Amino acid sequence: MIKFGMGVLAGSLLFAATAVAAPQDVLSFGKGRPVPGGDVGAGKNIYNAVCWACHESDLSGYKGPPLTGKSFYKIWRGRKADELADLIRNRMPQDDPGWLTDKSAHDLVAYIVTFANRPESLAGTGK
Ligand code: HEC
Repeated sequence: MIKFGMGVLAGSLLFAATAVAAPQDVLSFGKGRPVPGGDVGAGKNIYNAVCWACHESDLSGYKGPPLTGKSFYKIWRGRKADELADLIRNRMPQDDPGWLTDKSAHDLVAYIVTFANRPESLAGTGK
């Protein structure tokens, strides 16, 4: 009984430790600016159909800059998630912009944020 209790305690301590990631290791839009809702699976599908060609399937960057990792998080830390969605909707895909809907842009933001902060939850989403 006591052993079981310790196991649960150790488990929650481990969870607490991993849940508190250093600020430079997460994509955060700052306090009081929660990420607006978006369909992560739909965002993943558009990403893998279009965006990967320039940003790479693991978001690490190719012809376009990386959309994950410390340098990207630094650019966006404290800015508005809507700003990122607007950039995507107005300027991407860079060789053929203008056709993404507002919803798709927000779905892409949801995918980019999930890829950064909770990649393990992506298994089984999208096509
Ligand atoms: C033809 C190549 C190409 C495609 C396809 C493309 N991008 Fe880009 N992307 C770029 C380039 C080049 C830049 C940097 C110059 C600029 O911002 O216009 C960029 C910049 C970005 C940025 C800003 C990155 C930063 O550092 O802040 C985001 C976000 C982005 N792209 C998202 C997307 C998404 C989402 C898609 C798919 C809908 C996409 N891109 C498709 C080439 C591309």
